[in-house]
Amino acid sequence: MSLSFWYPLLLTSLLFMQTLADTSCTDCLINSRASYYPNSDEQGTSVGACGFGSFGATLNGGDVTAASDLYRNGVGCGACYQVKCTNSAYCSDKGVTVVITDQGSGHNTDFIMSKHAFTGMAQTIDAAANLLALGVVDVEYRRVSCSYSNKNITIKIDESSGNPHYLAFVIWNQQGKRDITAVQLCETQNFVCKLLDRDHGAVWATTSPPTGPLSLRMLFSDDEGEDTWVVPPNNIPQDWKAGDIYDSGIQVTQ
Ligand SMILES: *[C@@H]1O[C@H](CO)[C@@H](O)[C@H](O)[C@H]1NC(C)=O
Repeated sequence: MSLSFWYPLLLTSLLFMQTLADTSCTDCLINSRASYYPNSDEQGTSVGACGFGSFGATLNGGDVTAASDLYRNGVGCGACYQVKCTNSAYCSDKGVTVVITDQGSGHNTDFIMSKHAFTGMAQTIDAAANLLALGVVDVEYRRVSCSYSNKNITIKIDESSGNPHYLAFVIWNQQGKRDITAVQLCETQNFVCKLLDRDHGAVWATTSPPTGPLSLRMLFSDDEGEDTWVVPPNNIPQDWKAGDIYDSGIQVTQ
């Protein structure tokens, strides 16, 4: 048998092994560092750069974080990460799951966590005190699915909005581990759609929004470059106003 017979087969199996390696590595732990907000209480924050508002304060039991590179100009807002510190004397195996609600960097950290999240990486209360005393610790992290049991994706109309000239909103309770990379609003009568801008963080906005009840479309992108438009069953009603909260009627698990 000549080499030219075996070569395509060899190439195929090499490519296959490469694919396997890549797939398993979306779950790989990445080395970094983490610190905490010294002035944070046991809650999250309602003033983070993501613009989550009151949702950010109670989110994930207060296990929230500011991110530097992982903030990704706001695309990272709402993404969940498992973060574990690596000092085996103090740190638990499981670490903590945090949600990005803010932007921040310093001391070569990827995460500046709430105190609640930072101490949540410790094995015991005493170990937590030791971690706080260290201030900055080595960590390993990976992206994980967010989960908000018994909640649909929810639309909170931002306080800056004024019907009918300016509409801004934040998307709360998105499960899974995909990014929302584009948002459209479509009129329900004639299907005229308008692409929104990411105003800042997780806040999507448009001047002169389409009129009537508005159908929302969200583009979900995964880390393999797969894009999917998700269209929830519930519309944003015509008389939307600042501060309103709407149940989209849909949730995602991936
Ligand atoms: C989510 O939306 C569905 C309709 O699509 C509704 O039946 C369900 O009650 C909603 N769940 C919550 C927790 O609001």
